[in-house]
Amino acid sequence: MNARPDAASLPIRLADYRAPAWRVERVELDFELGIDATEVTAKLLLRRDPAQHAPLRLDGENLELLAIALDGQPLPATAYRTIEGGLEVDGARDGSVLETRVRVLPAANTALEGLYLSGPRETGFLLTQCEAQGFRHITYFPDRPDVQSSYTVTLRADRARFPVLLAGGNPDGAGELPGGRHWARFADPHPRPSYLFALVAGRLEKIERDYRTADGRDVQLKIWAEADAIASCHYAMDALERSMRWDEQAYGRNYDLDVFHVVATHDFNMGAMENKGLNIFNTKCLLADPDSSTDDEYRRVEAVVAHEYFHNWSGNRVTCRDWFQLSLKEGFTVFREQSFSADMNSAPLKRIEDVALLRRAQFPEDAGPLAHPVRPAEYREINNFYTATVYEKGAELVRMLAGRLGAEGFRRGTDLYFSRNDGRAATIEDFLAALGEANGIDLTPYLAWYGQAGTPRLKAHGEYDAARREYALTLAQYTPPGAGQPHKQALPIPVKLALFGADGRMLPLHLDGQTAATEAVVVLTEAEQHFVFRDVAERPVPSLLRGFSAPVILECDYTPAELALLLGHDPDGFNRWEAGQQLALRACDALRDDADPQAVAAWCDALAALFDDAQLDAALLADLLTPPGEIELAERESVVDPARIHALRQQLQRRLAARIGGGKLDARYRALAAQSTAALDAASQASRRLKQRVLHLLALLDPASACDHAATQYRDAPGMTDRLGALAVLARHDGVRGTESLAHYRARYANDPLALDKWFALQAQLPGEGALARVQALEADPAFTLKNPNRARALLGTFASGNPTGFHRADGAGYRLYAERLLALDALNPQIAARLATAFNGWQRLEPRRREAAHAVLATLSAHDGLSRNLAEILGNMLKA
Ligand code: ARG
Ligand code: ZN
Repeated sequence: MNARPDAASLPIRLADYRAPAWRVERVELDFELGIDATEVTAKLLLRRDPAQHAPLRLDGENLELLAIALDGQPLPATAYRTIEGGLEVDGARDGSVLETRVRVLPAANTALEGLYLSGPRETGFLLTQCEAQGFRHITYFPDRPDVQSSYTVTLRADRARFPVLLAGGNPDGAGELPGGRHWARFADPHPRPSYLFALVAGRLEKIERDYRTADGRDVQLKIWAEADAIASCHYAMDALERSMRWDEQAYGRNYDLDVFHVVATHDFNMGAMENKGLNIFNTKCLLADPDSSTDDEYRRVEAVVAHEYFHNWSGNRVTCRDWFQLSLKEGFTVFREQSFSADMNSAPLKRIEDVALLRRAQFPEDAGPLAHPVRPAEYREINNFYTATVYEKGAELVRMLAGRLGAEGFRRGTDLYFSRNDGRAATIEDFLAALGEANGIDLTPYLAWYGQAGTPRLKAHGEYDAARREYALTLAQYTPPGAGQPHKQALPIPVKLALFGADGRMLPLHLDGQTAATEAVVVLTEAEQHFVFRDVAERPVPSLLRGFSAPVILECDYTPAELALLLGHDPDGFNRWEAGQQLALRACDALRDDADPQAVAAWCDALAALFDDAQLDAALLADLLTPPGEIELAERESVVDPARIHALRQQLQRRLAARIGGGKLDARYRALAAQSTAALDAASQASRRLKQRVLHLLALLDPASACDHAATQYRDAPGMTDRLGALAVLARHDGVRGTESLAHYRARYANDPLALDKWFALQAQLPGEGALARVQALEADPAFTLKNPNRARALLGTFASGNPTGFHRADGAGYRLYAERLLALDALNPQIAARLATAFNGWQRLEPRRREAAHAVLATLSAHDGLSRNLAEILGNMLKA
């Protein structure tokens, strides 16, 4: 168990930022590695800011201090003292060298922060996770990103038990030691913050590739994994090479060390980590193999490999001054990753996926008790701020800036940002200043987006004056109060738009003298503005916010017919999908209120027509045939009944299936199934995606024949996408064959943790009465453990976030079970407990019975003694009035 800081400790505020009084110019680390105990010697060359007189304070948690010396002299006990979360040392001067020796306990570290063990004691390996504040669990240090130091790291260990020794930087010697031990040293020429420190030690296999950067550096790329996983790392190696090339071309960024290591672990709190020269990945984001990975997982691996690689510049070479600036590296890097994925795959599909994620994960966060600005003003536990807002909304803000500057201007801006801030710990202001100055444009109005929480609503209303041939578009913005911000200000909102004629063609735009283009961007900067288009030949249908040009909720008084026109004709693939989504929302409202049958018919008719369109991309069709998810539907309600929303969405899809017709669905399924291959090219992936969607719709209409197809598909599946898709249909619609296939899958993948995670997750999502009992039965499976984050997330996280009818049982039993597990998890791994607790977000808007039950559970949980600071902060915010 880990000693934990006071859950009630004071918040840390952006406004209180002070430059460090002490810096560390050089650090030499020496590790005597052991599974149970590891000794760490650190020699710090200290630099004092002459303008400050604060005593030397070092961060340190869960460290056993064995020795301490200043400038070569052991310190008497009176010359240093432990303080809350660290150590205070007397007598240090500018240029002093402080040496400490501490003991840490890797095998007992269940929080997976600092130095810990992955896998069993006998066979597992040691590794570290330091972002955000894990380095202080390894040694005493000013553990903050604005302290940048040159690192030399020496690892010593038993050779048989730890044949592979890795740390960040370039290799700087290795050799034998007496007693079957050996050592290896690494030196990093680039000064860096402590959160980028990493080491790995154990029995690992590797694959390698040589790479030459555009500027002529020869780099060895090495991916490491345990023996059972190494064969699944080749796709990641290809993705890494593509990422490196892309960053050279798109941003002019070259890699800057002689080696680049990537290591895979099954035990990781997050997706992956960009440690300098030694990225560490959750296997879930690195391994890819047709037999056990789905198409979505392949794309995810490619994206995360790129993301971590891109951090080498957006994060490592230019880092963050403090953790409030987290989006400086994360928002920008997510944007870079999204652009890369769009270039490697399909840009419109990528945009649809990203916006769907934003709406599913970030909009609810921004609308609930956990809302915070992209740059928060305060936090208690920084690990709670690796959020959809910092990452995904942060990426949207960079996208707006990139759109404002245009491709060339943005590149000029990022060139200046990187060159001016190289080796520095920067702020969001530095980013906006570089982008703006490179283009002679003042971007400071966009700073407001970083400081204001909440999703702006954008109201659009158009009036056509036939006599004057003018179309006046009124745009108005409003952000509801929240997150301690009672009055929200107007933000600059770029609205990319086009106008359509009744025949589905785009009309030329004449706006303020600019002419002739069919697409324009207007920027709303006030609460309300009018934009008048001249010489408009007919009453137009506007296509607004094309490509989702700003992260807002658009409210526009379209008729169903107008949306159907856009759905049929908009060449902007994103807005075409969006028109379908808006129409589906209308249809859903109509079903709910028993009104406006026209809306349901309009959606179904439009999609039935597209279903027959042989020109349409199969993947886009699959997405068009998918209405907004239950979370998104719930976001539009002031009082939420999850069971009702689930039923409504099912009903809507059944109407669509009926409108297309069982015969057509069946024929399309057969045609797609006949083409089935294991190939991973875009067309094959698209056809699998559509096949799965069609099978799902067919199952709503004719479960028996859909399950016959699914049984065959499960048996003959050439890869995981088809196998898992078939299994999902069987598990949902066929008691007998579902159970059989689940057992078959369980046995087939008994030794594949990632495939087993999918088995847990699939069942955790099955809706209905039996859901809770099913989760409890799965907890009794010998493969279930709370100690592995992927496994806990697969079963419990998926249940709470992906099974609304199960988790939100009206009697509150779902909440009670979940809360018990959160408590058990909190004692092991506070980061994971806190993350999973966010599943309660939105509880205040539940219908009264569920709201009462959720409130009771949350109140009991938060009153519990000994909660981690992580979980206490989430629960505290969740319960704030
Ligand atoms: N920087 C990592 C990334 O690439 C994530 C680190 C997450 N850290 C945490 N404490 N949650 O996004
Ligand atoms: Zn990142």
